Amino acid sequence: MKRHSFVIAFCLSSVFLSCFTPIALAAIGRYKRWPVGGSTRFYEFKVNTMKVTKLCHTRDIVTVNGLYPGPVVYAQEDDRVIIKVINEAQTNVTIHWHGVRQRLSCWSDGPSYITQCPIQPGQSFTYEFTMYQQKGTFFWHAHVSWLRGTVYGAIVVYPKTGVPYPFPYPYEEHTLIFGEYWDMDVVKLEKAVLASGGGPPPADAFIINGHPGPLYNCSANDFYQISVVPGKTYLLRLINAALNMEQFFSISNHKMTIVEADAEYTKPQIVDHIMLGPGQTYNVLVKADQPIAKYEMALGPYMSAQNTTFQNISSIGYFHYSGAAINSLTQQALLPQFNNNQIVSSNLNGLRSLNVTNLPLEIDTNLFFTIGLNVQKCNRQNPNKTCQGANGGIFAASMNNVSFVKPTISLLQAYYNMINGLYTSDFPGVPLKIYDFVNGAPNNIPNNTNSLIGTKVHVLEYGSKIQLILQDTGTVSTENHPIHLHGFSFHLVGSGSGNYNPATAQLNLVDPPYINTIGVPVGGWAAIRFIADNPGVWFMHCHLEVHMSWGLAMAFIVKNGVGPFETLPHPPADLPRC
Ligand code: C2O
Repeated sequence: MKRHSFVIAFCLSSVFLSCFTPIALAAIGRYKRWPVGGSTRFYEFKVNTMKVTKLCHTRDIVTVNGLYPGPVVYAQEDDRVIIKVINEAQTNVTIHWHGVRQRLSCWSDGPSYITQCPIQPGQSFTYEFTMYQQKGTFFWHAHVSWLRGTVYGAIVVYPKTGVPYPFPYPYEEHTLIFGEYWDMDVVKLEKAVLASGGGPPPADAFIINGHPGPLYNCSANDFYQISVVPGKTYLLRLINAALNMEQFFSISNHKMTIVEADAEYTKPQIVDHIMLGPGQTYNVLVKADQPIAKYEMALGPYMSAQNTTFQNISSIGYFHYSGAAINSLTQQALLPQFNNNQIVSSNLNGLRSLNVTNLPLEIDTNLFFTIGLNVQKCNRQNPNKTCQGANGGIFAASMNNVSFVKPTISLLQAYYNMINGLYTSDFPGVPLKIYDFVNGAPNNIPNNTNSLIGTKVHVLEYGSKIQLILQDTGTVSTENHPIHLHGFSFHLVGSGSGNYNPATAQLNLVDPPYINTIGVPVGGWAAIRFIADNPGVWFMHCHLEVHMSWGLAMAFIVKNGVGPFETLPHPPADLPRC
């Protein structure tokens, strides 16, 4: 209903042009040069608060359109998507369209203080982008503070009409968004964690489509269930929107066949368990080929770091065969041990692209970024309260030992309008200090674990062919980090444990997966390649929210090229002000 009225309102205001042909809409849009192959999809997102009762308590959470998880955005490949976000909540918001490559639409990418200022309470902003050559499972989420803790939803993009999936057509499909639930305000939570200098408290629950499941207090009936017909095959769209935890997922007695990762097809890979870091999406096929019963779907922690506390109760849902009695005994799902790195690396190694396009074989820009944690020397009043990091320090995180600090207006505005003093262009392409990153990390606290602090970007020439090595470090602890790049997918040409060694690293230049978030192996490395052909400012960061808050982030500036589709358009008129 809402969507309809919005379309009509939009039409009335769009000066005499016919509203119902995509061509006309494309012509009045801001990017008239951009080819729009399909339809234009309009959505209206009202960011507001709603009451939810979970885990024995009722509280207000920020959501979109009164739904939790938020509404699904549906589109087809090459469609134009226009989403008006109206902030009716009491807190700043932006929305990021995670995995959407935003060709020539960096202004609509959404990370706060990177491509835009936040949408303040009472304000609105219209995001516009084309699903150019993209289809599959994506998600959208808030990109301000830790608001993503409650503000997220799926994006499902179908192939163009008449284009089949590269696998047998499933009987049905279901979307499962994994999250973490805190019984407190997630924006206040971020502030409290940063003020403490220490680590975050564990989530109060893991949730599947908002439901914790029966292992949690007061949640016996608060579970998600899929009713299945025996013999049929189901497509499950799995999305990890959790804030701070990587998670394992499995369905008792059922294998899953991975057919898509981060909204790109893969060669089929059959697994018992799947690990998703926050920011990762997988499509899996599951065949209901087991005896009629009620099977558990389980979501639990993957924690590769040492000495951390985390939620250890699984979120349970059901894969319920029709014909099974409602209270028939359930088949328990077994999850791997929380620190089973072996399963994670074997899943990753089995990931292969179905068709490879645009993989740069020749490289002209070699980059090497370390990623990891730091402990800053305590320099605060009241250290008992404010320096609760390891050994009385303050936790931080960094890339190439620089902890990213957000500027006061967006980097994209600063860059586009040539405003000086908000950032520097000296983010190092290689670490300033070379050492044994994994085993020789400076852990002799408090002397040596500090990072530099700054708003540094790395500038890339249009069209450069990049290889980037991401190297985990052992400062504080090694850990698997889900590193996400905005504005691009990248080819994962290699990964391994220990320090990257160009002499021995085995690279897959045949069928590497094409993804947007890579879980860099704990104490290991990953090699990614992409062509910098999308002008703008693109954030790259750890998708564990606490690591991003601590500075495990940087931004690339990709310069304009010379051709007609190689220049960043003007900012939209309604771009929020800081
Ligand atoms: Cu889904 Cu910058 O992130």
